[in-house]
Amino acid sequence: MAKKEKNNCIPRHVAIVMDGNGRWAKARFMPRLFGHKKGVESVRKVIKYCSDAGVECLTLFAFSSENWKRPEDEVSGLMSLFMGVLEKETVGMLRHNVRLQFIGDRSAFSAQLQAKIALVEQETAQCSGLKLIVAANYGGRWDILQAVRTMAGQVQCGELKPDELTEAHIGKALSTQELPEPDLFIRTGGEQRISNFLLWQLAYAELFFSEKLWPEFDEKCLQQAFDAYAGRERRFGMTGEQVKA
Ligand code: FPP
Repeated sequence: MAKKEKNNCIPRHVAIVMDGNGRWAKARFMPRLFGHKKGVESVRKVIKYCSDAGVECLTLFAFSSENWKRPEDEVSGLMSLFMGVLEKETVGMLRHNVRLQFIGDRSAFSAQLQAKIALVEQETAQCSGLKLIVAANYGGRWDILQAVRTMAGQVQCGELKPDELTEAHIGKALSTQELPEPDLFIRTGGEQRISNFLLWQLAYAELFFSEKLWPEFDEKCLQQAFDAYAGRERRFGMTGEQVKA
């Protein structure tokens, strides 16, 4: 097999499924929430590293549409954790020029959490560095469904004709709107699945699975993922020769 052309660029958009907090805590005979709290330290490390490396967007899967099925104390603990993180970290985000945006159905959150999310989005709206997208009460199928509803409305009111619909219309109607599609998808915790994350947007992402549990994932692990990405040949359906040309 011909040697692969190296793709030395840093990914523009990195999307991460932060898995393994519960198992990390269990191994220490601690409650699952202890693992989520420890996971916030990895979140901080990864944000700083991506920001310094010049990554444009970082999307973190913090809470899936399916996570409501978890024990009540874990769900309420996670909600308090999100609130606490937003309260404590806004100053740091502003200092590092990080813009925060949430994607997902936020209407299911408490009015207090919804207001806090809106406030931090507004406070960091002028930041021009890393775009940090937190997927909370997010599901890839939910995202496609809400996009379809938006487009159906546009068709119904005569703004668009069905045969004028393009992939670009779908892209804009998704919650990620104008963001570039993820180049690199990382999942920690040893599982190898997408779990209803950015289903449409991940079409051409390079996939990287790490055995590390999320609280153990640090700068070195992220660099390993970037190195693996740099060694991949992204063909987007073309032949290797066409890509080189
Ligand atoms: C999955 O591990 C992790 C979560 C469902 C929560 C992750 C959330 C954080 C680290 C807080 C981040 C906060 C912000 C605002 C970005 P798991 O519980 O499924 O682990 P397991 O597979 O070992 O059970």
